[in-house]
Amino acid sequence: MAGHDDGRQETGGTIPAALAAALASARRVVVLTGAGVSAESGIPTFRDALTGLWARFDPLELATPAAFARNPRLVWDWYAERRASVLAAQPNPGHAALAAIERRVPEFLLATQNVDGLHARAGSRAVVELHGALSRVRCSRDGEVVTRWDDPLAADEPPRCPRCGAFLRPDIVWFDEMLPAGAIARAEDAARACDFMLVAGTSAEVYPAAALPLEAKAAGATLVEVNPHATPLTPLADFALRAKSGVALPALVASAWPGADYAGGVASSGRDGGGGAK
Ligand code: OAD
Repeated sequence: MAGHDDGRQETGGTIPAALAAALASARRVVVLTGAGVSAESGIPTFRDALTGLWARFDPLELATPAAFARNPRLVWDWYAERRASVLAAQPNPGHAALAAIERRVPEFLLATQNVDGLHARAGSRAVVELHGALSRVRCSRDGEVVTRWDDPLAADEPPRCPRCGAFLRPDIVWFDEMLPAGAIARAEDAARACDFMLVAGTSAEVYPAAALPLEAKAAGATLVEVNPHATPLTPLADFALRAKSGVALPALVASAWPGADYAGGVASSGRDGGGGAK
């Protein structure tokens, strides 16, 4: 463990006693997660996601309204493949540890940039999906969520809305699009009011999500980062755990609540989902 002049502590994954104590006594906990939390479920992080058939595409060419306008079927197919690989993946012990924290603190909110739904599948309940959800599809005209659609094989355009005939699209926040107003407002309110903020598996570079830890810190919260690599947030963190979230988060729970009935795993943990999706 390395101490810094500013009091910050970087550890290789061992949990400092002061960190365990801060979590155990926290009243209001907010967690921000990113793609790194799902890496150990076999889902590549966003910047690694373009593998295999998709390796020749740039995310900026696929995850934008302009890309959808230019080539809607290509964008639809990319998300359809990601949806299938996420369904084949399983939550990992990091997801399970976050669900365990939620069960142990009085107030809790998990804000995620992930669209894979793995937090809910691991048992997290108070989840705000800042960037949408792969599992949902909506009408590109009025935004209404649609649950059934026809997808003619070998079609050269996406399925159409059964009510109005407009193209359907994934219910995902693309580059250049606004986050759902209710979702980001709920996360901001919680971040400003929390006493402990845990940031795991995000490069902390994409706003407005990346501002949430800054708001928590400004309001006096203890700020903890879990990431094998340094990020722009690292210098601000009170504790920086340089480890994978599937290892560090279960260790954090075990240190904060020693003797708790918590194995740190999930029934089907560790399965490689085959990759190909965020
Ligand atoms: P990134 O791909 O930018 O960053 C993933 C982070 O996870 C990196 O900092 C890695 O060091 C870290 N990481 C990798 N493996 C890890 C592990 N096992 N445990 C913990 N951390 C690990 O993903 P995000 O930060 O989620 O937005 O990206 C934010 C947003 O940028 C995404 O939601 C997406 C993208 O633009 C939209 O699609 C709107």
